[in-house]
Amino acid sequence: MIKIAPSILSADFGCLNEEIATVEPFSDLITVDVMDGIFVPNITVGMGVVRDLKTSLPIECHLMIVEPWKYVEQFLDAGADIVSVHFEATGEKTAQTLQMIREKGGRSSLAIKPATSIDEILPFLPLMDFCVVMSVEPGFGGQSFLPSALPKIRKLREQKPELEIIVDGGINSETAPQAIKAGADILVSGSYIFKAEDRGAAIASLR
Ligand code: DX5
Repeated sequence: MIKIAPSILSADFGCLNEEIATVEPFSDLITVDVMDGIFVPNITVGMGVVRDLKTSLPIECHLMIVEPWKYVEQFLDAGADIVSVHFEATGEKTAQTLQMIREKGGRSSLAIKPATSIDEILPFLPLMDFCVVMSVEPGFGGQSFLPSALPKIRKLREQKPELEIIVDGGINSETAPQAIKAGADILVSGSYIFKAEDRGAAIASLR
């Protein structure tokens, strides 16, 4: 069953809980894009905002930050259910960080940028509950889907059938079927949903 995760990156940051209320009835989880202005050239929100979010849905915190291991526990304490860390940020601390997420009660998720080969993360599959295959360069919403994500999804699906594969970036009614066909389980979508006249219909069009 395909799950849809609206990304609040494209929502009105001045009324996030009202924005979430407009998509929650149609969605399966909420994605919070955390950016530090170092790992990516943008800055968004931190643990305090996550703590104040009001939703009954699971929250995925996508940490686009350097040294994410320093903040895993704080985001879990703030209410994150899934913590996604970037392989390009964790490096030789990748295994340690994924184990930490699980030990602290979260579900572990490793994200990779478009330029990163799947082969680099295969050794960590046993420690991963999720993988985020970025189909845009992380940092901004509203970008176009990169089809180079599709063979990565296919290879991941072959390597670990039970892995939950998240695709994040440029997801709309055209690109969603491609990602699903390749083997994606969860579609993160921001601008397509939050810029739509009818957000419920937009979400339904992705499934
Ligand atoms: C990029 C972000 C975006 C966001 C989705 O760093 O991770 O991919 O979640 O944004 P859209 O759906 O507008 O590409």
